Amino acid sequence: MIPRAQLLAAADRFGTPLYVYDAAELDAALERVRAAFGDARVFYAMKANPNLTLLRRMQAAGVGFECVSAGEIARAEQVGAGGDGVLVNGPAKSVEEYAAGARLGATFIVDRAEEVGLLPPGSRALVRVNPALSVSTHDHLATGAAGSKFGVTPGQVPGVLAALGKAGHDARGLHVHIGSAIRNAADFSAAFARLAELHGQTGDLEVLDVGGGWGVDADLPGIAREARAAASVFGAALWVEPGRYLVARAGTLLTRAVGTKRTGRNFLLTDAGMTELLRPMLYGAQHPVTALWDGEAREVWDVAGPACESGDLLARDVALPEPAPGALLAVGEAGAYGASMSSTYLTRPRPAEALWDGQEWTLIRRRETPQDVWAAEVEVVGS
Ligand code: LLP
Repeated sequence: MIPRAQLLAAADRFGTPLYVYDAAELDAALERVRAAFGDARVFYAMKANPNLTLLRRMQAAGVGFECVSAGEIARAEQVGAGGDGVLVNGPAKSVEEYAAGARLGATFIVDRAEEVGLLPPGSRALVRVNPALSVSTHDHLATGAAGSKFGVTPGQVPGVLAALGKAGHDARGLHVHIGSAIRNAADFSAAFARLAELHGQTGDLEVLDVGGGWGVDADLPGIAREARAAASVFGAALWVEPGRYLVARAGTLLTRAVGTKRTGRNFLLTDAGMTELLRPMLYGAQHPVTALWDGEAREVWDVAGPACESGDLLARDVALPEPAPGALLAVGEAGAYGASMSSTYLTRPRPAEALWDGQEWTLIRRRETPQDVWAAEVEVVGS
């Protein structure tokens, strides 16, 4: 936990909206993963938060990276990852992504049969299986459901493994990722069991990669037990790909009250909104909002951002003490898919990011300027 006085100091020093991260919680989350999953190989799904300083910390701790774009592969390379430390995934990989992955010696996660013919010669590969299960999360976050665009059907697995071998690739094993922000351990058990059933057709494998998707309060030891059981059926090494779990709780979005409005509902207007944290609007995600000022909470407030969209609400019905302009709010569990999904809509420069190491603050991303936002535009005057 970052002390309140330090949150106030960071907002004064770096301005708001501001993403702040607690290094101790980053370390603690990785420790919890390692305690639960033992010697499983951990690949951080960097889409959750690709800040280079966070990647450097993970790299130093022996964590690999799951990448889903040429940009993410470039980030892995930038922090010195390569070989068995890089996975290249995605349902529609580009020619550039195959080439960049091959240059790093990455393992590719094959998402469809046609990919066998697209992989660079002699590629290392896992086959992604869609177990066709319904999962207890928001529809947009379920990736292992029948009808989702991800993976091959269990019935296609033996054929794709055989085709990989025939084409001279190294078919290392299977991959499954059923979705994100999943709280119900039974969803994972069902998916891993579905994979284990395939052993009769595949025989033993080198790797079983069970993806990520763990909610921040998921039962990691329970999920790990089921994952290990499935891996042992194949005599395989266990790989995992957590994103959210490793960074969500470490991150907080700091935003200042701009003012209030009473229209039958109480609006607390803030300097952050959908451009900084899209998850409440896109998935109905609930992030805890805390007042960093004192007073008794007598009313509930809708915390609304500055965008010209009615959906720009960070939270509804939050009990808060009467806010004064400039008062600081902390939006919690924002370390995953917060900064990484922030946008420059409305030419709003993306926020700064700072890391608290228990002693001092380090700026790990400067605040963008409007000029940064339009830097790639070509300004044709008078044409
Ligand atoms: N592995 C694969 C193949 C994935 O597609 C993902 C996430 C992960 C691992 C990491 O999942 P995690 O442990 O973070 O749940 N923008 C959404 C989340 C989308 C996740 C996409 N894939 C959100 O804000 O909740």
